[in-house]
Amino acid sequence: MPSISRAIKGVATVLALSSQVSAIDWSLPSDLLKNPLYGAVDNDFDCRSDNHPNPVIMLHGLSANREVDLNTLGWNLTDGGYCVFSMTYGAHTLAPWIGGLKSMRESAKEIASFITEVKTKTGANKVDLIGHSEGGVMAIYVPMTQSGIAEIVDHNIALGPAIHGAKYFGFTDLLYFGGDVTRNLASLALKVLGCAACDDMATDGDVYDDFKANAGKIIQAGNKASIIMSSADTLVAPETSRIEEAGARNIIVQDTCPDDAVGHAGLAWDKSVWGLVVNELTEDYDRKFECSQGLVFRK
Ligand SMILES: *[C@@H]1O[C@H](CO)[C@@H](O)[C@H](O)[C@H]1NC(C)=O
Repeated sequence: MPSISRAIKGVATVLALSSQVSAIDWSLPSDLLKNPLYGAVDNDFDCRSDNHPNPVIMLHGLSANREVDLNTLGWNLTDGGYCVFSMTYGAHTLAPWIGGLKSMRESAKEIASFITEVKTKTGANKVDLIGHSEGGVMAIYVPMTQSGIAEIVDHNIALGPAIHGAKYFGFTDLLYFGGDVTRNLASLALKVLGCAACDDMATDGDVYDDFKANAGKIIQAGNKASIIMSSADTLVAPETSRIEEAGARNIIVQDTCPDDAVGHAGLAWDKSVWGLVVNELTEDYDRKFECSQGLVFRK
């Protein structure tokens, strides 16, 4: 295509998109709110636990938020006596419930300040991080890049993190809770509000480059990193997530639960994964738990 007509087409697209942005009702779809699986536990800075002194901070995936994605694991850990905290990071002001879109270097700062807030307000010595997908990347990336964080992180557990470059489009399935309306709004947000994070994680994106530049020292001293992956994950394959460094444990779901065919989005809700997460938090790596089939959610 000649460059002039390409330029005209580009301008037309931008104009069409900006009129779309103001015409769209970005408010939270009521279907999402009504879903019984919606909603995270409140951040209770007075929470103290003798068995699990580290507060656990949950980091959601792309286009999700604190109320969906890792929220149900959050309930489970709360019931198990953990103090669980979460935030929505990287959201555009127009649609504050669609998280993780902003550039990940920006989001990393938001997350670092939340980690510091939790540590300070609870008076804990260390915190644990659990992240899914983009949040899993953040569980590794934030201690690597934000000063003062590595020192206060004990476990960083990453579910299907694309450390070595991935295509993150299609993650809007994470918002299945709200049905089609929610999903469509989330994919529209990727299109018209932009998804800097999508570019960051792709091969040769900023975050991909930051990991490459830190090869061999991605995991920080004193951090116990656990990378939990599914061999049935077609979006972020295990090769994309593995970190072969001292301090990192690479865990394939099927090594413990061979019949679990959990895909990428499902890692957050899969009971086999929950069992593995608890074993990583407690360092009771051989504890037996009941595996699940992991077919509830799409890849
Ligand atoms: C957490 O979930 C696992 C897997 O479903 C279950 O076995 C366990 O009882 C739950 N823990 C609590 C405290 O509810």
